[in-house]
Amino acid sequence: MAGAGRAVADGVDCSYICDIAVHPRFQGRGLGKEIAMRLLNLSRGHRKIILYANPGTEKLYEKLGFRHMLTAMAIFSNEDAAIRKGLIAPSAPDDDDL
Ligand SMILES: CC(C)(COP(=O)(O)OP(=O)(O)OC[C@H]1O[C@@H](n2cnc3c(N)ncnc32)[C@H](O)[C@@H]1OP(=O)(O)O)[C@@H](O)C(=O)NCCC(=O)NCCS
Repeated sequence: MAGAGRAVADGVDCSYICDIAVHPRFQGRGLGKEIAMRLLNLSRGHRKIILYANPGTEKLYEKLGFRHMLTAMAIFSNEDAAIRKGLIAPSAPDDDDL
């Protein structure tokens, strides 16, 4: 398989696009953009379309109209690894910890 991606959607409110990946041998030929555009077109009509992007790939998706979301949160099974990869911010200390 050269590339893949998926959208999980409820048909009305939210479509969630994730796991867009192109095999290294086929990268840089427009395939990632084509997959993103097809998933985006399949998601049209939803009130919101949310995309999970790896750090460093934001420019690709900005060109398709995605904007940075200010309210996204996530729970990763390996929180320390997710922080190291820049996927989430470390939690702020509680007032009790100060
Ligand atoms: C990110 C990824 C999906 C891009 O796929 P691709 O087929 O190589 O990208 P395309 O050839 O379709 O490039 C489309 C556009 O995005 C740009 N682009 C591609 N990869 C980019 C990256 N990592 N960062 C910023 N821009 C990128 C290209 O320059 C191109 O711009 P243009 O339309 O102005 O010419 C692919 O590199 C990949 O699978 N990477 C590893 C997994 C990953 O990080 N997935 C992202 C999950 S959201």
